[in-house]
Amino acid sequence: KRHLISAADLTRDDAVLILDTAEELGRLADRPIKKLPTLRGRTVVNLFFEDSTRTRISFEAAAKRLSADVINFSAKGSSVSKGESLKDTALTLEAMGADAVVIRHHDSGAPHRLATSGWIGGSVVNAGDGTHEHPTQALLDAFTLRRRLGDGPGTDLAGRRVTIVGDILHSRVARSNVHLLSTLGAEVTLVAPPTLVPVRTESWPCEVSYDLDAQLAKSDAVMMLRVQRERMNAAYFPTEREYARRYGLSGERMARMPEHAVVMHPGPMNRGMEISAEVADSPRCTAVEQVTNGVSIRMAVLYLLLSGADSGPQPAEPTPA
Ligand code: CP
Repeated sequence: KRHLISAADLTRDDAVLILDTAEELGRLADRPIKKLPTLRGRTVVNLFFEDSTRTRISFEAAAKRLSADVINFSAKGSSVSKGESLKDTALTLEAMGADAVVIRHHDSGAPHRLATSGWIGGSVVNAGDGTHEHPTQALLDAFTLRRRLGDGPGTDLAGRRVTIVGDILHSRVARSNVHLLSTLGAEVTLVAPPTLVPVRTESWPCEVSYDLDAQLAKSDAVMMLRVQRERMNAAYFPTEREYARRYGLSGERMARMPEHAVVMHPGPMNRGMEISAEVADSPRCTAVEQVTNGVSIRMAVLYLLLSGADSGPQPAEPTPA
C-alpha cells in the first residue's frame, strides 16, 4: 500500500504486520543510540492544520529514529493564514521533495484528497481528519491492547471485548478503532448518550449501548473518549455533572471491571469529566503507555510505506550495537 488514509482499508494481515513491525522496530530502537539508518535520505513532512501534541511529536520522533529528514509545518504562522489553498501548500511541499506527508486537517476527507489529487508524488498518512478517521491512533491502541492483554506477536484480538465510551459523534478515534479492532477479531461496544451517537453506527461492525454500568464487568478494555466541546452545540449536550455521573469513569466504576481489564484514553483528557483523576493516574490506565507505543507504531507505518518493504524488518536490518 502507498498511503494510510483509513483503518477500514487494512486487512487483518496488514494490521498484524504493522503491529509486529512496531514490536521489532521498538525493540531495535530501545538502546542508547536509538537511531536506525533505514530511512536515511528520505524526507517526511508533518503537515498540521489542526492542533496536536501526541501525534505530531510522535511522528517526528518516529521519523527521526529511522534517520529521515523531518520538516514540521503548522498552518498557524504559515501562508495558509493568508488564504493559501491545500493544493498550493501541497505543490510547495512537493517542490521540496517530500517522500511522505503526514497530514492532520479539520476537514474530513482532506488526506484522501491529497492522496488522490496528483499534487504530490509521495505517501500520505492520515494523522486525524475532522470527525472521520485517525488510523495510527487505532493501531497504537490495538498494539497497547495486545501487549497489556498478554497476546504476543503474530496474534490478533479475537474474542477480546472492548467498550468505547463517550463522544462517539465527533470521534475519529472511535471510528478508526471500530474498524480496526473488529478487523482484528475484537467485539466492540459503543456507549454514549443518545445525542452523541452518530446515525451511521447502524452500518458499523459494533454494538451500541446507552448503559455504561451494564458493560463494565464484561469488558477487557474500557476506552474513554474526550468530550469535544469545541465541535459541539450546547443544545445537545448534558451538563458536565450529569455527563460525569452517567458516562464518566470513576474509581468506583473501575473497581467493577475484571481484574485484568485496562482503561484506555487517547488524550488529551478532560479530568473530572469523562475520567476521574484517580482513574487517569491509576496503573490500570494505559494513556501514557499509548503515547510511548505510538512512536513504535508510527515508525512501523513510515518504514512499511517508505522502505518498499512488504514484510517487517528482515534479519539484515541493523542489530543493536
Ligand atoms: N490522541 C491524539 O491524537 O492526541 P493529539 O491531538 O495531542 O495528537
